[in-house]
Amino acid sequence: MTTTAPVSALETPLKFAYWVPNVSGGLVVSTIEQRTDWQLPYNSSLAKIAEDSGFEYALTQTRYAASYGASQQHEASAFSLALLGATERLRVIAAFHPGMWHPGVLAKWVNTADQLSGGRAAVNIVSGWLKDEFTGFGLPWLEHDERYVRTEEFIRALRGLITEDGYSQDGQYYTIDDFTLSPKPVDVPGRAHPEIFFGGNSTAAQGVAGRVADWYFSNGRDLEGYAGNVEGVRASAEKAGRSPRFGLNGFVIARDSRKEAEETLREIVAKAHRPAVEGFQKSVQEAGASTKDGKGMWADSSFEDLVQYNDGFKTRLLGTPEEIAERIVSYKEIGVNLLLTCYLNFTEEVAGFGREVMPIVRELEKDLARKHGTELDVSQIPDVPGVSAEQATAAADATLPASGANGSNGAGADQEDAA
Ligand SMILES: Cc1cc2nc3c(=O)[nH]c(=O)nc-3n(C[C@H](O)[C@H](O)[C@H](O)COP(=O)(O)O)c2cc1C
Repeated sequence: MTTTAPVSALETPLKFAYWVPNVSGGLVVSTIEQRTDWQLPYNSSLAKIAEDSGFEYALTQTRYAASYGASQQHEASAFSLALLGATERLRVIAAFHPGMWHPGVLAKWVNTADQLSGGRAAVNIVSGWLKDEFTGFGLPWLEHDERYVRTEEFIRALRGLITEDGYSQDGQYYTIDDFTLSPKPVDVPGRAHPEIFFGGNSTAAQGVAGRVADWYFSNGRDLEGYAGNVEGVRASAEKAGRSPRFGLNGFVIARDSRKEAEETLREIVAKAHRPAVEGFQKSVQEAGASTKDGKGMWADSSFEDLVQYNDGFKTRLLGTPEEIAERIVSYKEIGVNLLLTCYLNFTEEVAGFGREVMPIVRELEKDLARKHGTELDVSQIPDVPGVSAEQATAAADATLPASGANGSNGAGADQEDAA
């Protein structure tokens, strides 16, 4: 592996995010018990616990149709605003599809959301994989690489409209004529404007990320795979004179022993809802089929990988807190700036991650910085109260629906209509 993080990144503490469960069924398509819920009471409580545990970001998902274990879905922009209203420090990243939104309408949303939240709005621009959502709405479904042409234009227009007066752009998909939006976003020190995240693994996605994104988000990857993505994005960014930051998804299974964590993973996969996973496999492989080089998100994903729909098992964040922390810091060394996490039992495990994994990560980050002849800037580590196991369990008990876990439909119900 040749990729190593630049010195400035080694001096900066890792940032942590979690996936907002704003769609039902949890983050794995399995009938294993998942203490999670997609409704607002659970999510507001989770968001507060996350910010008190040291998480700086939450990511909502955009999904319009029942598919792949999510029979219910809350719309991302509305849900993100509710979470911003429920929290004080958390930055909430809302996901949007070009092709569903006009960049001018989204820019207006961003500026307002940023004003309402005191400078905590962010967006994740995703090109989409679920063809039926587009064709069902009567919208064109572009071929894979063409979706990225549109996404790049979309992000340019979005940033231009958020930051500039009299913005114009003459593009294939979007034409903007001398437009000024007021108000502009909040002026936050160290932030040029509300952050623009962007997700994808394919070669086309890496090119776009380097040219226009503030943050590149990848699905779960092993160390070597991720290093390849970083190289691809950096090559494109260097040509454009830019330096985006890097995020990576991982499914966390922190247990008292590695054996226990591995058993949990085995149980998740053994209880997977096979028709739903296979249906998803078909959709995403069709969506990625037209990449020129056959490299794309999910292209090399096995059945087991796809039980977590963003390949989160591939990152192998399982074992004891020490083992997980070591693995996380290995990813930092090859370029990760932000770790996006998901769990079986969100409230309890987010709090547990903050209490048990993050402190070890911080110590290892200090060692890593020294190994490279510099120091970790500890002043950037969020100063948070932390959440005890008892507080987290009580918060989950108070907000989980009476019918039990797995997205308020009872364990497994969501999986039955999932495919
Ligand atoms: C972190 C992350 C979050 C994503 N969130 C969504 C989402 O909310 N809705 C959605 O339709 N696609 C989402 N995607 C998937 C993208 O729409 C797209 O299908 C994928 O990035 C394509 O990857 P490819 O370039 O490797 O083909 C997400 C991707 C990543 C990496």
